[in-house]
Amino acid sequence: MLNLFLELLKLVKPLTGYMCLAVSAGVIGFLMAIFIPIFGTYAMADILGFKVPLSFNVLIILCFTFAALTGFLRYGEQLCNHFIAFTVLALLRDKIFSALRRLAPAKLENRDKGSLISMVTADVEIMEVFYAHTVSPMIIGGIVSIVMVLFIGSFHWIFGIIALLTYLFVGVFLPLYISKAGRKSGIRQRESFSKLNDYMYETLKGISEIFQFGVEKQRVDTISKIGTDLKNNQRKLKKYGFQTSLLNGFAMVFFPAFILIFGGKLYQTGQIDFPSMIIPVIALLSSFGPVLALSNVANTLLLVSASGKRIIDLINEQPEVNEITNGSNIIFNKLECDNISFSYQKENILNGLSLNLEQNKILSINGKSGSGKSTLLKLMMRFWETDSGTIKISDENINHINTSSLRVNQSYLIQNPILLDDTIAENIRIGNYNADLEDIKNAAKKASIDEFINKLENGYDTRVGELGDRLSAGEKQRISLARLFLHDAPLLLLDEPTSNIDSLNEGIILKSLKEASVDKTIILVTHRTSTKGIAEEYLNMSEIRKS
Ligand SMILES: Nc1ncnc2c1ncn2[C@@H]1O[C@H](COP(=O)(O)OP(=O)(O)OP(=O)(O)O)[C@@H](O)[C@H]1O
Ligand SMILES: [Mg+2]
Repeated sequence: MLNLFLELLKLVKPLTGYMCLAVSAGVIGFLMAIFIPIFGTYAMADILGFKVPLSFNVLIILCFTFAALTGFLRYGEQLCNHFIAFTVLALLRDKIFSALRRLAPAKLENRDKGSLISMVTADVEIMEVFYAHTVSPMIIGGIVSIVMVLFIGSFHWIFGIIALLTYLFVGVFLPLYISKAGRKSGIRQRESFSKLNDYMYETLKGISEIFQFGVEKQRVDTISKIGTDLKNNQRKLKKYGFQTSLLNGFAMVFFPAFILIFGGKLYQTGQIDFPSMIIPVIALLSSFGPVLALSNVANTLLLVSASGKRIIDLINEQPEVNEITNGSNIIFNKLECDNISFSYQKENILNGLSLNLEQNKILSINGKSGSGKSTLLKLMMRFWETDSGTIKISDENINHINTSSLRVNQSYLIQNPILLDDTIAENIRIGNYNADLEDIKNAAKKASIDEFINKLENGYDTRVGELGDRLSAGEKQRISLARLFLHDAPLLLLDEPTSNIDSLNEGIILKSLKEASVDKTIILVTHRTSTKGIAEEYLNMSEIRKS
């Protein structure tokens, strides 16, 4: 656990200066606030004729100055904390995205995509609470407590011990006890809450299916069941909250009263004077603030340990495939697969596959679902490395080709392409940021989507998000295909580019592909027989895969 926190702190090294500033402002601000009533008491003792270390005027001036400065310092502390909070959010997201960039695409292909999304949202938010509202209050609470123990102890060592016990009780023992008692309810609460969120989201997403099959009652019943669970848990957590404030209230009366009784005895026997009996009580009473702020810290730390571990694990994760930067650059002229085998974990997908593809030819890959067609394309892209055998492009093993050079030479259309919430023109422009509208339109024509786009009210400036479900699967596929035509790489890897497209539009696209094959090599994964017409080479995966 300690190791984890040290690693987490290392992540925000660039913010050390601001953290120190926040802690200094916090410590000085708290101490000044604590000393205002202490100076006030000294001033009163002065009026009553007792001997005090400072003159009345100095004491009053100090009271006013501290009061004014406290405000500024607390403001400064909050300012630093908020700055840290926002910067930490940006810093962590940046670290997570760089880690994902390094781990992609294999990591993103894996089946735990859901937890990645929660990591970039929920986990990062929790870490913000940790860095900006947990670490500095802990340090501030610790430093202020030490100073106050020394100050109170300077009147009598037993006062010091009582103060120390007070701070330990309120700042360490109570938070630990309550977090232990409420741990189960806390975890359950969060689980129920995210379950309710997920369930509501799923329900809204599938609302038409729910009505169609008449299962709305079951959905509503489940929602109210999770809701009741949530309510019961909340009640339990409230109970713990109530217990905490009760015990805190007890501590705030009990410990100062103890000093008062003990001090009274010392005063009676003449061992200390009157101010030395009262000041420690006032000092203790006015110094609860920083330790009270720690009452929630234990709960936060519990949350942080789970989220923090996920983030640290991701940042330290080794990629399945390393980016190559010191390899060679190539210009595509042929592709060869020599006896390649590949398994995802234990599941053997490819077993000794070989193929040769000359420049400017079209290869059609068929085979039943699950036979490894998409996997083969991903291996050619080096999303994963083969277990044995080699894939060569222009006679160079792809494991030795610079990743950037590989990407420039390949265009890959995934099976279920994704459009971004941007205009249609911008979605196509992703293929080549230097393209102008004319190039974009030409690419759209080749993908047989130009006519559809022109019919939209805002044409190429229509936002994809605004269209929502209006965009059919085939239309999305054709927009993605236009993006690919714009990319203009010599090797096109197309995973079922026409699976959602009617035969008329498919005909246009196949014609475009055939025309493109004048200077492009194309690998076409397809279930359809119609696409075979344009291919020179065939590969049937079902016959190859032996499992
Ligand atoms: N990231 C992954 N991790 C583990 N197994 C995977 C992964 N991706 C695919 N598989 C499995 O590998 C096998 C081949 O998948 P692949 O997607 O290559 O098939 P396909 O021939 O493209 O099928 P389809 O025609 O349905 O698209 C399947 O059994 C699939 O479940
Ligand atoms: Mg596939």
